[in-house]
Amino acid sequence: MSAADLFSVAGKTALVTGGTRGIGKMIAEGFVEAGAAVYISSRKAGGCAEVAEELSAKGTCIGIAADLSTEGGCRGLAEEMAGRTARLDILVNNAGATWGTPLAEYDETAFEKVLALNVKGVFHLTRFLVPLLQAAGTTDEPARVINIGSIDAIHVPILETYAYSASKAAVHQLTRHLAKRLAPAITVNAIAPGPFESKMMAATLQAFGEQIAANAPLKRIGRPDDMAGAAIYLSSRAGSYLTGAVIPVDGGIATVR
Ligand SMILES: NC(=O)c1ccc[n+]([C@@H]2O[C@H](COP(=O)([O-])OP(=O)(O)OC[C@H]3O[C@@H](n4cnc5c(N)ncnc54)[C@H](OP(=O)(O)O)[C@@H]3O)[C@@H](O)[C@H]2O)c1
Repeated sequence: MSAADLFSVAGKTALVTGGTRGIGKMIAEGFVEAGAAVYISSRKAGGCAEVAEELSAKGTCIGIAADLSTEGGCRGLAEEMAGRTARLDILVNNAGATWGTPLAEYDETAFEKVLALNVKGVFHLTRFLVPLLQAAGTTDEPARVINIGSIDAIHVPILETYAYSASKAAVHQLTRHLAKRLAPAITVNAIAPGPFESKMMAATLQAFGEQIAANAPLKRIGRPDDMAGAAIYLSSRAGSYLTGAVIPVDGGIATVR
């Protein structure tokens, strides 16, 4: 393969959960622009259809609604995918939720909601999609699973988001565990983002955005291209010899101390 093709994902089929906004949309848009056929998923059918139509102006994008906070929802999405494609080259487990409350009020509801989607959803969807990923992957060119973790599982966050940071630490370890089990036909890696514009981060960035950027070694928050670039690297020939890795994409916030 020539170096010009090292980062190609053209012709690959990808599923990006939570692909309707924020980080998921950044990745889905990057894949579509790079010539992949991209399925996006979220709970809201209207949002899926709207964003799929928007991204279809640049290539191929199809929306499928699913609630990934239940095992049944994960199974349903995997069955829907199996009805539409014989192989899946790339799965991006991006859909996630957070919960911030002072310690004294941090109750069971928070843990239930956050762990159901961020940890169990990632596990079950991957499990149900293994046959489609195995149909796409070979030892030479494995299928790819990319889990979206967080720098909040690398450093200790400022905000009181206990279930969230714990869930993302679980995602990082699940990444390594599944990587061992699914090699050599499927690689499993995680991206640990720093701050990126999204609905989840809107309040934090509005209140502390300038401060966060000023304190970051690279002096800014993340751009869509930073996230798309990392996902394209992990999904292309260039990224076929790493598995079980957690890659921070954070401007140095958690990595340069
Ligand atoms: N933004 C950041 O700075 C940052 C930093 C570190 C890590 N992350 C991680 O990046 C991922 C994306 O976060 P984001 O900031 O882009 O969040 P976001 O803007 O809130 O987007 C979340 C996406 O997930 C979908 N979703 C939520 N609940 C779902 C469910 N039960 N089933 C299926 N889909 C669901 C949402 O669509 P619906 O509401 O329509 O379902 C939406 O598409 C998360 O895993 C997050 O933890 C983000």
